[in-house]
Amino acid sequence: MKKSVKQQQLERRILRMLSPKAKAAAELIFADHELQALQEYANIVSIKRLGFNDHGPVHTRMATINAIRMFKLLNDAGIKMNLEKEGVGTADDSLTGVILAALLHDLGMSIARDGHELISIELARPFIDRVVDAIHEEHEYEIKAAIKSIAIEGIFGHMATYKIHSLEAGLVLIGDGSDMEKGRARISVLLSDKVRVGDIHRTSASAINKVKIIKGKERPIRIEVEMESSVGFFQIEQVFFPKINISPVKPFIELYAGVVGEEMLKYL
Ligand SMILES: [Fe+2]
Ligand SMILES: [Fe+2]
Repeated sequence: MKKSVKQQQLERRILRMLSPKAKAAAELIFADHELQALQEYANIVSIKRLGFNDHGPVHTRMATINAIRMFKLLNDAGIKMNLEKEGVGTADDSLTGVILAALLHDLGMSIARDGHELISIELARPFIDRVVDAIHEEHEYEIKAAIKSIAIEGIFGHMATYKIHSLEAGLVLIGDGSDMEKGRARISVLLSDKVRVGDIHRTSASAINKVKIIKGKERPIRIEVEMESSVGFFQIEQVFFPKINISPVKPFIELYAGVVGEEMLKYL
């Protein structure tokens, strides 16, 4: 199984960030040849056939790192995830569901863009089942059901097309949306030479220099988006903000965006 240097670096970073059960799940995902092949194919369809940006192994790992970072900031601030609040599982169980969703959310791009969040669920099911079953005892039915449901909810909600209700799934939605730094959206800019419908998304996304996820001052999470020109605000207002707006994590987020060298605009 060949992986890019970038992918390998991101995987090592993810493993260092995780608690025991989530780490065991990530290790199984990273060792899965069938999954690697499907993610790479999803990227071929996304970039070469459909003219979108990266939706493959590197993107899903970046989205995962973003989600884990926010998870930790919430945890440090004493905010409990839904599984813990509802007496179903631990923070480690929640994180396991979050990373499974974040790692598998774009598999549906191997088929089509429209409704890919639903196709992703179909394609992710065997991997979710395999991993969750492997890291639990057979009789642990309740927690297996909960983690699988969280993983599916995270995938289901990642396009902000359906309302989701857990903080866990809300982290996946924002983690996915936060992967919009310059180099990330540039792949398709390089590949397409003609003006196409939707180009404003690409131009706008390539104006984003940096997305920082750090500890907030008034709320646990602060997201700072730094752009090189004001065209980047389109990406924030049309793509990123609507995702935060529908996410159950919204009350815990400060959102700032601005052009380098100018004062940042406060959205939340
Ligand atoms: Fe997606
Ligand atoms: Fe995605």
